[in-house]
Amino acid sequence: MKFDLMLRNGKIVTPSGIIDGDIGISQGKIAQIGRITEHIAHEKAGQVKDCAGLFILPGAIDMHVHFRDPGFPAKEDFGSGSEAAAAGGVTTVFDMPNTNPPTITCAALEEKRAIAAAKSHVNYGFYMGLTSDNILEIRNAKNIAGVKIYMGSSTGNLLVQDLHIIERVFESGILAVVHGEDEKIIRENQKRYKNSEDPSVHSLIRSPDAAFHAVKELLHLAKKHNARVHVTHCSTVDEVEELRKFHGPTVSADCTPHHLFLSQSAYADRGNFVKMNPPLRTNKDRHALLEALRRGYIQAVASDHAPHTKGEKEQTYSKAPAGVPGTETLLPLLFDAVHHGELTLHDVAKITAENPARILGIRGKGRIEAGYDADLAIVDMEKTMEVGHHNGPHHGFFTKCGWSPFSGWKLKGWPVTTIVNGEIAYENGRVNKKVRGREIAKK
Ligand code: DOR
Ligand code: ZN
Repeated sequence: MKFDLMLRNGKIVTPSGIIDGDIGISQGKIAQIGRITEHIAHEKAGQVKDCAGLFILPGAIDMHVHFRDPGFPAKEDFGSGSEAAAAGGVTTVFDMPNTNPPTITCAALEEKRAIAAAKSHVNYGFYMGLTSDNILEIRNAKNIAGVKIYMGSSTGNLLVQDLHIIERVFESGILAVVHGEDEKIIRENQKRYKNSEDPSVHSLIRSPDAAFHAVKELLHLAKKHNARVHVTHCSTVDEVEELRKFHGPTVSADCTPHHLFLSQSAYADRGNFVKMNPPLRTNKDRHALLEALRRGYIQAVASDHAPHTKGEKEQTYSKAPAGVPGTETLLPLLFDAVHHGELTLHDVAKITAENPARILGIRGKGRIEAGYDADLAIVDMEKTMEVGHHNGPHHGFFTKCGWSPFSGWKLKGWPVTTIVNGEIAYENGRVNKKVRGREIAKK
């Protein structure tokens, strides 16, 4: 077989362990793994890349991004968002529906589909948003990854408080991906803190019990219907406990890097630049999330990449929108955690690639195995870099918003090359803008 690209002498992170060897890539797929002899390598490969000293992981599948396209081009668009993804070793993203127009009709979905096809440098899929009256549109939609349900209001106005409507999704068999915060509790708390402009009240207004109550109610309801449900951005120890109780094949969950690596103490330094929904929590919560990832009660890490402009974030607390960018720093933060002994590289491959692929029912992605798509992150685990210095066009970032809640953090372990469908989409600080991703087809 002729290889289009051969990766030589890497440390390959496979489901059965790390192996030293080569990967032969042909027609966008992993054709062969193992020791490929010198003679064959040179005769049969179009391009040979030396990966000595580097780790090769399955490209990350970021299950939760807001690329703001169409509607908010000052914050991000599918081009810049997917550049940020590629620079971070993310080879597939799933985009959320709170764009403008919101992705709540088949027509809006098709509009977004055309945008992504024209602009995305990584592979992609879409969620539709649930409203009080669009269940038929959702049932008629082609190839959606799932339905996003906001039980608590957030950026955009896709709020569904009526549990009967959520039950219609459960009956449809479509994956429900849920933002679990209880709107009633949030509104009560809001009254209490309405005169405060201190960003740290955000964690008191959107209190841990708001998340706990919503997730508990949701998991009970899903169980009643034996429905597939995914809790996104789980942030508290009490949600983890509910996920443990309801653990089983129909329930899954993710948490974000910011809930893993930042706590409420960050408001003092960063103010609204760490305002997001759900909000930052305590160190106890952070540790519970890490432990849940290791034990499998939470199966994935997803960025909830939600860029807003610096100008928007510099407003007073009550005016500043919630959300932080994150797809670009998702893997580097996890690699840094590997150096701190909090996770293994095998864990990272599972929670960023293998498990997201399983949760979303994606075939042929998420692991390094012959026959799988050649979506790969080549990683220098010894490289230390400060967040914001990876050569991106926007103040050192690829995300158009040009900032990060982690800016200035020195992280050890960075992707140096990202391969999307067998093509080099990112290498050493540069995105290859000619590369286009493809839409993920569900099983
Ligand atoms: O902080 C957040 N920002 N949480 C969300 O649920 C939405 C997101 C956004 O779109 O800005
Ligand atoms: Zn989100």
